[in-house]
Amino acid sequence: MKRIGIDAIALAVPEGYVELADLAHARSVSPGKFVDGLGVERMAVARAHEDPVALGANAARRLFAMSGADTSRIGLCVVGTETAVDHSKPIAAYLHGLLALPTACRVFEAKHACFGGTAGLLNAVDWIASGSARGRQALVVCTDVARYAIGSAGEPTQGAGAVALLVSENPRLVELEVGVTGSYARDVHDFWRPLHSKEAVVDGHYSVQCYLDALTGAYEAWRHACGTDYSEPIARRCYHVPYGKMAKKAHRHVMALEGKGEAEADASYVEEVGTSLRLPAQIGNVYTGSLYLALASLLEAEASRIEGKRVALFSYGSGCTAEFFAGRVASGAGAFSRALRLAEPLEGRRRYTIPEYEAIRRADADADRRPIESANFGAGTVAFLGVEGERRVYTGYTE
Ligand code: CAA
Repeated sequence: MKRIGIDAIALAVPEGYVELADLAHARSVSPGKFVDGLGVERMAVARAHEDPVALGANAARRLFAMSGADTSRIGLCVVGTETAVDHSKPIAAYLHGLLALPTACRVFEAKHACFGGTAGLLNAVDWIASGSARGRQALVVCTDVARYAIGSAGEPTQGAGAVALLVSENPRLVELEVGVTGSYARDVHDFWRPLHSKEAVVDGHYSVQCYLDALTGAYEAWRHACGTDYSEPIARRCYHVPYGKMAKKAHRHVMALEGKGEAEADASYVEEVGTSLRLPAQIGNVYTGSLYLALASLLEAEASRIEGKRVALFSYGSGCTAEFFAGRVASGAGAFSRALRLAEPLEGRRRYTIPEYEAIRRADADADRRPIESANFGAGTVAFLGVEGERRVYTGYTE
């Protein structure tokens, strides 16, 4: 049986963020509601040049630079996103060019709200398990800019960023339990984004219920798939994190499915879920990358302590679909996570004032039509410069 899973992870975030306490003051809301009630401290805000292509390419660049992986070994490149930049040309095609990936490579974009990244990951695992990879590796990039209307209930649950995953045999971070996943799907209108809009539409409280219903379905399907082969206890749990409190609700829900009460759930929450929420609380919702940002946060905080231990993962995509699956933290993952310096992209970020953030949001409307800007974005950084003859132009191509 092949050992397959996540070999390396890297993040990219925009250069600036909004402090949720500042946003609360500006919206005449108690800061306690956003910071404690939703469990978010800061949300990343993307400027026009930090579009999902640029964020995804910068995360992938960092992945290769920090892990020592070789782009010439990539045979599959999947981008999960729900904030695509084109109805036809996938972000994966831009990444293929920006990273100079081999021409003998399967390249596509996957969409199902926040599930797109998991669709890419599980597809990559199956591609390796089937033998199609023939020794090659897969690049899976989750990249999004989460936008809700200014002043809406969803506004404090925005964010932006990308998570790049290298998927391979003999993974250095997390070995996944291949073929043992629990799926769930149902046609619902909890969250969506009409073709004419850059902002998502959401039926907020209903979306929370849809997430929990999907968690029940996926968890029960996973337990059924596990049978008696995987009875070993779960040491840590990573959930899709639209905002930190949702992970707490999810954890209580799973504990109830396991026959445990609220007090018992809350007692295990700090140890089993707590460290996975540190980075999400500093970045906000990154949609497709959210579960993998939680995993990166867990590994950054305590990979060495949990080597050999089992971790459960829950991915939710509105609309909706979900998957529950598990893996084991690889031996040596502690030292390798430290070498990857997973949280480094968050250092030195700029705190935007609320008027600066609102000006960035107003500029979004024309961002995809603006003429090319010449600006210095730093050597090796991928940035969206503007549009020329309906073509999107990026700086930072690999020589
Ligand atoms: N101090 C501490 N806590 C406070 C507080 C205070 N001063 N004031 C309120 N709170 C608490 C509330 O009690 C509540 O906690 P509980 O959920 O534990 O009851 C919490 O703060 C939020 O308060 P409200 O429910 O009143 O907040 P709201 O109605 O304004 O909005 C929301 C909440 C519906 C989640 C909204 O932020 C939203 O629509 N977000 C976008 C949708 C979303 O993220 N859905 C999640 C599931 S769907 C999904 O996961 C896909 C995806 O990525 C989008």
